[in-house]
Amino acid sequence: MSIDNPNGVQPDYSGLRIPYHVGIVMDGNGRWAQQRGQPRVFGHRAGTDNIRRVLEASINAGIKVLTIYAFSTENWNRPPAEVRALMQLLSRTIRDQLQELHKNGVRIRHSGSLIGISDTLKRQIAEALELTRNNDTITLNVAFNYGGRAEIIDAVQRIIADGLPPEAVTEDMFSHYLYTQELPDPDLIIRTGGEYRLSNFLIWQAAYAEYYATPTYWPDFDETELRYALVAYTERDRRFGKVKVP
Ligand code: IPE
Ligand code: IPE
Ligand code: MG
Repeated sequence: MSIDNPNGVQPDYSGLRIPYHVGIVMDGNGRWAQQRGQPRVFGHRAGTDNIRRVLEASINAGIKVLTIYAFSTENWNRPPAEVRALMQLLSRTIRDQLQELHKNGVRIRHSGSLIGISDTLKRQIAEALELTRNNDTITLNVAFNYGGRAEIIDAVQRIIADGLPPEAVTEDMFSHYLYTQELPDPDLIIRTGGEYRLSNFLIWQAAYAEYYATPTYWPDFDETELRYALVAYTERDRRFGKVKVP
């Protein structure tokens, strides 16, 4: 994939520790639009376009799983017109970009609930997952209609429905009941838009993820910004509760 890069300069990732799985809370679309005197939906459009740029940058960097937070269960509480626009954006993106994503070896996954989503969009999501299921350049895991607490409750309900005995419930098997199923836990969580919170994103899976926040609004987050996050990640000392061996 070629990056839309006017200077033709590719960031240098040598010497950096590349996380296997990166999660991004793509925040700040509304404020980005407001800054330009435009309606919030204008920011969502720009934000959606930006996914492609960051996906390409992630492939260049060697990231293998990219989970993007696109719509939270709490986002249903936004004005109906904005919710409709966000649904339409996902639908249009699948319609317009699925073939190219597939050609570029992107495996698409969905993490979230299908409840409340239109039949058309459900069909499109199913088609995207099915078409790309054997691709292995990168996994683009779209957290759409996703909430970490809902995900955990959903898992508990299915475990009970499956009739599993208490002693069968382990951390490992529980992880497989989550929407993320076999995906490894995220190593790095990036949040754009300047807030320091998870907003119900991957609350189980991010137990030991490194966290990186930037004030940059999502539509402006580019390959250089991604590289900054990777530099910060490289400098972190992940201890997982252990004592560092000298
Ligand atoms: C993130 O941008 C996109 C979604 C939550 C869907 P916001 O819409 O939250 O933008 P801000 O935070 O209001 O600027
Ligand atoms: C988190 O952003 C959800 C997504 C990016 C999809 P929000 O804008 O909804 O989060 P809060 O409301 O600031 O916590
Ligand atoms: Mg926000």
